[in-house]
Amino acid sequence: MHPMLNIAVKAARRAGNLIHRSTDKIDHLTITKKSHADFVSEVDRAAEQTIIQTLLDAYPDHAILAEESGAHGESDFVWIIDPLDGTTNFLHGFPQFSVSIALQHKGIITQAVIYDPTKNELFTATRGRGAFLNDKRLRVSKRIHMADALIGTGFPYTNFEHMDAYIGIFRDLMQQTSGLRRPGSAALDLAWMAAGRYDGFFETGLKVWDIAAGTLLITEAGGMVSDLSGGDTFLKTGHICAGNAEIHPKLLEIIAPHLSDALK
Ligand code: IPD
Ligand code: CA
Ligand code: CA
Ligand code: CA
Repeated sequence: MHPMLNIAVKAARRAGNLIHRSTDKIDHLTITKKSHADFVSEVDRAAEQTIIQTLLDAYPDHAILAEESGAHGESDFVWIIDPLDGTTNFLHGFPQFSVSIALQHKGIITQAVIYDPTKNELFTATRGRGAFLNDKRLRVSKRIHMADALIGTGFPYTNFEHMDAYIGIFRDLMQQTSGLRRPGSAALDLAWMAAGRYDGFFETGLKVWDIAAGTLLITEAGGMVSDLSGGDTFLKTGHICAGNAEIHPKLLEIIAPHLSDALK
């Protein structure tokens, strides 16, 4: 394993174990609201501190971009961290949440870890060296027909500006696919896309820490990732569409008629 990935795995496991241990005390946590339906708990913050500490102990000169504490330092190497993706699920005891850590080097994502502490599933990727679930090499699914496809998504909930477009896409997909799922951790959704559990995925308005690691997992598992019009702006805009090589263009085709200029 690449030494930088190894450190990221150590950080993700530490944070994941801390989160897992905290599931017994969710009724007693201090919770604050950052915006409509965006909550943060002391567990999010403690997990983030553990990750940053572990990474900076190994690489003191690297920079950090983390959801709860923002950007620190300046370097060609930037660690992009979502310490607890799926906070709403976590706070309800709904067992679908994850830790997501990516390393960006000169603008390119080179290492990725997504850890699901509930299922003890560790998803990892190094650019050019494939994606893995625990020790098993990952490949995206092989389904080719939209009618057979299972599509993952996330509902817009902090910013409702794209609601109508989203519901239009959702309605078309309900009629044309074998099912839609919204489990509630975008990072884990992308990891599951890499693992072939979904055939496609789309969401609007995500943040870079939700998707940085997951997008490398998907491309290393042989899948495609783009923004909603097939371009490569997804890390900036957070509008994202993924799929295997057959489903991805078909998903883009269904999405296209609904796109406002702001979503392109
Ligand atoms: C959220 C999750 C969710 C997605 C939201 C994110 P958080 O992250 O990834 O699946 O739909 O847009 O904000 O706030 O739980 O880290
Ligand atoms: Ca959040
Ligand atoms: Ca998140
Ligand atoms: Ca989070």
